[in-house]
Amino acid sequence: MDRTSHILPSVLDAIGHTPLVSLDRLTKECGGKIYAKLEYLNPGFSRKDRVARQLMLDALQDGSLRPGQPVIELTSGNTGTGLAIACAVLGHKFIAVMSKGNSPERARMMRALGADVVLVDQARGSAAGHVSGEDLALVEQETQRLTKELSAFRADQFILPGHIDCHYHGTAQEILAQTNGAFDAFCDFVGSGGTFGGCARAFKEVNPRIQCLIVEPEGAAVLAGQPTTRPSHRIQGGGYGMRDLRAIDKRHVDGYLTVNDQDAVEGARLLARKEGIFAGFSAGANIAAALNLLRRTGSGQRIVIVIPDSGLKYLSTDLWPA
Ligand SMILES: Cc1ncc(COP(=O)(O)O)c(C=O)c1O
Repeated sequence: MDRTSHILPSVLDAIGHTPLVSLDRLTKECGGKIYAKLEYLNPGFSRKDRVARQLMLDALQDGSLRPGQPVIELTSGNTGTGLAIACAVLGHKFIAVMSKGNSPERARMMRALGADVVLVDQARGSAAGHVSGEDLALVEQETQRLTKELSAFRADQFILPGHIDCHYHGTAQEILAQTNGAFDAFCDFVGSGGTFGGCARAFKEVNPRIQCLIVEPEGAAVLAGQPTTRPSHRIQGGGYGMRDLRAIDKRHVDGYLTVNDQDAVEGARLLARKEGIFAGFSAGANIAAALNLLRRTGSGQRIVIVIPDSGLKYLSTDLWPA
């Protein structure tokens, strides 16, 4: 339901129903269309608000989360922000476990929302702003330890079905309604794969001819079956080099696209300058992949992408020159 037409019981009801915008200024030269789903307009400024709400509501319903029990999860910041919001509203303590490699404004925002934030040192050789699969493994270890110690509920964004279901029932159905199903391709930068997996399943059910393409960092395109030659990249929120993602059903994958750091940075800057859309690195990766696809196919395709989070989350990085 339109979230602006009536009084909502809480900010959790303000999650989702985001606009879909045609990026006509960017596609003017290459033809075709790119439709961008503006997920940074969610209350926590990312698409992970949808996941957080779903994980919490599912767990309360099936009894795996008891009233008042602490909630914990590893996060690159966005799921954590969503969980901090959901926990504030539903009355749970939230503990976010995050790599020191993620941008510090995310930790500040989670703390502002009442969360405890545990920052985990990066692996030897990793650099701030570059979070690798190895860094994530260290965060996972610490999360497992704290989950036991605190008898907390682990809102596992890689395992629990809510991370796919919220996109299958929400994001994807909204896109199908907004476009009337009239688009040719969908491409998405994958972290847990929840967005890609949930959307691809819904799109294929409606129209198997919609091409669903996974976007990965150059040098860490493991889902495409390539060897990892550059595990450390700048596209925060995904590209962790994990080969087995529950959310990805290979039958729904039509292909793989790679982008490098520079493509993602230029993509985000282009989005801001030409379309007035202030978004993060992974939005830059998605727009770079979609523009490449349009240039390569030259067939006037209509491509749907998601803008995962806000550019405000990267003010401390050089994505936006001072
Ligand atoms: C900024 C950003 N982009 C992309 C992703 C990947 O989304 P998904 O986990 O749905 O694959 C995430 C996930 O945390 C993210 O925070």
